[in-house]
Amino acid sequence: MSTRRPASTEELSAILAEASTSATPVIMVGGGTGLAGATEPDAGEIVISTDHLTQLGAVDPVTAQVTAGAGVTLASLNRHAREAGFEFPLDLGARDSATVGGMAGTNAGGALAWRFGSMRQLVAGVEAVLADGSVIGSLTGLSKDNAGYSLTGLLVGSEGTLAAISALRLSLVPRMDSRATALVKTATIADAVALMAHLRSNCPDLIACDFVHSRALRLSADRIAVRPPLPSEDGWFAVVELGAPSGDLLPQLTSALESANRVVATAIAADADQRAAIWKVRDALTEACDATGNEHKLDIAVPVNRLAELETAIRAAIESTGGSQDDAMIWGHLADGNVHLAPLFGLAGDDQLELKILEAVSELEGSIAAEHGVGRDRLELIGLSRSDAELKAMAAIRKALDPKGILASGRAVPR
Ligand code: MLT
Ligand code: ZN
Repeated sequence: MSTRRPASTEELSAILAEASTSATPVIMVGGGTGLAGATEPDAGEIVISTDHLTQLGAVDPVTAQVTAGAGVTLASLNRHAREAGFEFPLDLGARDSATVGGMAGTNAGGALAWRFGSMRQLVAGVEAVLADGSVIGSLTGLSKDNAGYSLTGLLVGSEGTLAAISALRLSLVPRMDSRATALVKTATIADAVALMAHLRSNCPDLIACDFVHSRALRLSADRIAVRPPLPSEDGWFAVVELGAPSGDLLPQLTSALESANRVVATAIAADADQRAAIWKVRDALTEACDATGNEHKLDIAVPVNRLAELETAIRAAIESTGGSQDDAMIWGHLADGNVHLAPLFGLAGDDQLELKILEAVSELEGSIAAEHGVGRDRLELIGLSRSDAELKAMAAIRKALDPKGILASGRAVPR
């Protein structure tokens, strides 16, 4: 394994042209925060790190766009955008290390995706290098451009299998300096879904509505020694946030929560510290699960109105494999029907359990790979979410763009 660190598109192009000539497999690696096992290199694979592709253009206030190299981290993009009065409306716990190139590769989502879109909606243009070294794409950021297929739409979410992304034109929104945040407890996941629907109808400034099951909330809070503002006995906790460029959002949040049905308890953050405490517990979930020694998680999605059925199926699968319900850490993004499930302790590494759950997801017309990508971890099971005809179409696209099969081999979609 050798690592190359191109500092320009030309250097990236030369590396790929060389790899193509010698038919050497390559893998693009950004911040290494991916959650689908995609960036672990094989022996003999050239690792192309985007570490040095960190150019960041000036924010264009007219189009509310900025051009960023693939290796720019989400945190540095947002620092840059904020200085100009804007922000990039996609947020993840791994914001300090995750790079925009990697996030585009996996079509990352996160807490704000239901409102502002996943990466595919936020990428206004892509510059990328094909396996043979040719450079394609455009960073002009045209919002209307239907001259042929959308290569931007195709490359975002292709997990490095079709081309190596070198730079992106990204859409921004005005900086949301005003926030209002609450932790809201409901008894059931169906009540949490009803709460989300109520808030979406009554809070025009709602930007996030994540959910965390009490056991996961306790694990995370214990890990970072932060006390959540509500007692974490059995139930579901919605992490709710409103955001806008200016104005006091508390009246909007308070009145919507007062008129919500089936809410058990509510804690509205009174200041920036309380708001930070809610998000710290929310953001530490991955770290808390990983710290138990099992980094493996499911990242699944079902139509939102079927989330309760999914929970029933998860509980039944655990029951049938003789596991403890206490060992299932569940959280996710309500409006996307996106569930993260970390089977820990006695459930860790139970392949039968995972298969049962993924089959249930398929029956519920959901996705076995919601926002973290397929990578290596979900490649064998992609047929649970895609038909044979769809997989054939994907393989044909892959072969057409990378005939020698040097890009991200063994990941994302079958060849
Ligand atoms: C999250 O929402 O916490 C992330 O997608 C990360 C994870 O699932 O580990
Ligand atoms: Zn997530």
